[in-house]
Amino acid sequence: MSAHGTPIPMTAYASGPLTGEAHVPGDKSISHRSLILGAMAVGETKITGLLEGQDVLDTAKAMQAFGAEVTNHGGGNWSVKGVGVGGFAEPDNVIDCGNSGTGVRLIMGAMATCPITVTFTGDASLNKRPMARVTDPIALFGAQAVGRSGGRLPMTIVGAAEPTPVRYTVPMPSAQVKSAVLLAGLNVPGETVVIEKEATRDHTERMLAGFGAEISTVETEEGRVITLKGQPELKPQDITVPRDPSSAAFPVCAALVTPGSDVLIPNIGLNPTRAGLFTTLREMGADLTYENERVEGGEPMADLRAKYSPNMKGITVPPERAASMIDEYPVLSVVAANATDDTVMRGVKELRVKESDRIDAMAKGLRANGVEVEEGDDWWIVKGLGAGNVPGGATCETHLDHRIAMSFLVGGLCSQKPISVDDGGAIATSFPIFETLMSGLGAKIERT
Ligand code: S3P
Repeated sequence: MSAHGTPIPMTAYASGPLTGEAHVPGDKSISHRSLILGAMAVGETKITGLLEGQDVLDTAKAMQAFGAEVTNHGGGNWSVKGVGVGGFAEPDNVIDCGNSGTGVRLIMGAMATCPITVTFTGDASLNKRPMARVTDPIALFGAQAVGRSGGRLPMTIVGAAEPTPVRYTVPMPSAQVKSAVLLAGLNVPGETVVIEKEATRDHTERMLAGFGAEISTVETEEGRVITLKGQPELKPQDITVPRDPSSAAFPVCAALVTPGSDVLIPNIGLNPTRAGLFTTLREMGADLTYENERVEGGEPMADLRAKYSPNMKGITVPPERAASMIDEYPVLSVVAANATDDTVMRGVKELRVKESDRIDAMAKGLRANGVEVEEGDDWWIVKGLGAGNVPGGATCETHLDHRIAMSFLVGGLCSQKPISVDDGGAIATSFPIFETLMSGLGAKIERT
């Protein structure tokens, strides 16, 4: 829904060719972390290229409520005057994280070892999502949480006044949980150790090192063992936020399935913990190339060129790749419908607890548009129809999920009849310029 709660129905029509350059917004994960770590440093952090999507704006507001001075200088340039590790003030009011699981879970971690009490809430989507995955580990530090049944928001956290260090193995592949524990560990004397069995996005670790924390990662038989030395003085940074590969996924996939397309998507981060979709698409036979490959700010980057690829074939996506493309399965399923053969996606249980149950939402919408889908608890298979053979013609429910909305709109660009979504309002949480960017490339996407 839009910020004022009115649904925004949208329709995508057969289009093409898509051409030109797609300048996608800043990385959502890195934007949240820049604001939160900026708020925990001593001095002024300057951020360029911040994603000004609603999720990140809600985190900026929250950091202000905790006492940091957050200023928008215009044009994606922001600054944060931090209060130091352990310096969070108790907010006067409830912290509303809107649609953002990343926002609420990271902030819960960051405040869990400060002697303050904070009540969190969110929108109808966020208030259904599981929070025990964060409240369990922060309880080990001494924080207490009381929420609704099933560990749902709204929820109040009483931060630990005398936190003790923790050694914690994250039970599911989740960068949010890993990051929450690390952020909690910042205000704890001694070493906090987090172990993850599968590598998830490592922006928190990289950024903590950049802010001057002592942090190390060692690959062992147990998994990745991350050790953080508590109570550092974080030094303010100048951060340039790279463009978001998860947003780039939409113009990339749109170009691959829309006849005649040739689109350049410049300056995309290709951190291996994020780039699984692009590897998968190339394995399916996509004409997707990396131009001008380079390293910037410690992150691998390239300009992506995506061209119409009518001969893609379904593959079995290796389950161990899931964490590096977890947000990209919805749009991959749309590409898979336009490839030949089956695309098999396993080890993806986490998709069921995102902004929506993404397997269920995509399966229902794809079926309504004439695509066969099989599914189980942690797997799904899309039966490809081949390029341009998706019948389309149906309206899909988006369940306040930005990526479900954008995925079906990409599908409508190459289906035989238009595809509609009941509500595209959530797109503004991560990709506020989606409509203008896509129409600039030649996509026919309209509010209906
Ligand atoms: C994110 C981690 C992932 C991802 C989300 C952003 C992050 O969530 O789906 O969009 O910035 O840490 P999980 O930690 O639930 O896997």
